[in-house]
This record gives sequence, structure tokens and C-alpha cells, in this order.
Amino acid sequence: MKQVIAIYPGTFDPPTNGHLDLIQRGAKIFDELVVAILRNSEKTPLFSVEERLDMLRECTAQWENVRVESFDGLLVDYAQSRGAKAVLRGIRAVSDYEYELQMAWMNRKLDASLETVFMMPAGAYSYLSSRLVREIASLGGALGDLIPVSVENRLRARLGVALQAHK
Ligand code: PNS
Repeated sequence: MKQVIAIYPGTFDPPTNGHLDLIQRGAKIFDELVVAILRNSEKTPLFSVEERLDMLRECTAQWENVRVESFDGLLVDYAQSRGAKAVLRGIRAVSDYEYELQMAWMNRKLDASLETVFMMPAGAYSYLSSRLVREIASLGGALGDLIPVSVENRLRARLGVALQAHK
């Protein structure tokens, strides 16, 4: 039987419950979902790739058809190396659309056989981003149900701040 493999690529610095929500949705519709952390990003990350691999592996261990890897180079080449037919990306709001559409078109130009599939996370995560999580954590704000507890612990340790309890 044909197995449909999808790649869910991103920076995941750090992973949030919005990412996990999308992974859960993707794991339901694809036979196999590979969460793929970009290695050579132009961004300077708060967490190393290895730390992000650990965090994502821990948080996705309950889904048997999900695995977590890192990748270098072009996404289309990596997708091909994994036999993937689709790229999964999340769209939270209209503001995401332009950037996502540009990437999807460009990936299609590079490899017309690779489809980009957009999914929406739960509404509760529509305003959530890793950038805001880093900013709020660095200022000691409460992140409660927006990130997994294991990620919160690592943020607290990395930033040396006591995060407020969720209200
Ligand atoms: O979470 P992000 O930072 O929005 O993810 C961006 C990511 C990793 C999906 C994108 O930068 C990417 O695919 N980079 C790999 C290099 C590549 O293929 N670039 C051309 C994309 S059109």
C-alpha cells in the first residue's frame, strides 16, 4: 500500500503547543510525519539543534508515526531523500499567508512533485509564536498552557528567570 510521508519543517526555537497541535493534526492524515529542524538557519537560536531535537522527541513520543530529525540545505532535496510527497505548514492568520505562499510557490518551482499542505492550529494558538514565547519568557511572564512543561523548564534554566505561574 502507498504510504504518504510528509515533512513538517521549521525552526522550533522553542517548540510550542501550537507546533504540537499541528503535529497531532498532521499525524492523523499522513502515514508518516517527519518533523524537521533546519540546521543552518540565518537566525541565531536560543536553543541548539540538539536541544530542540530532544524537546521535540520528548513531546512527540506518544505519536508512533511521528519522527524528529534535523536537515541542512534545500527542503525539497531533504524531502526527496525521505521519500516525502508533502510539506506540512501551519497558517495561523492571514499575515502568515504571504510568506507561506511565497515559500510554497518556490518549493513547487524547485520540485513540482512536492505538495505543500496548509493546516490551521486550534484557535487558542492562533496568536502564538516561538518569538513571542522567547520574549515573554525572558521577561519572566507566564506561558502556562502555551508551551509544554518540559520546554518551560528548559526556558527557565536557559534564561535564568522564574516564570510566573499561569493565571
Ligand atoms: O519555522 P520557520 O523558520 O518559518 O521555517 C522556515 C523553513 C525552515 C521551513 C524554511 O526556511 C526552509 O525550508 N529552509 C530550508 C532552505 C530552503 O529550502 N529554502 C527555500 C525555501 S522556498
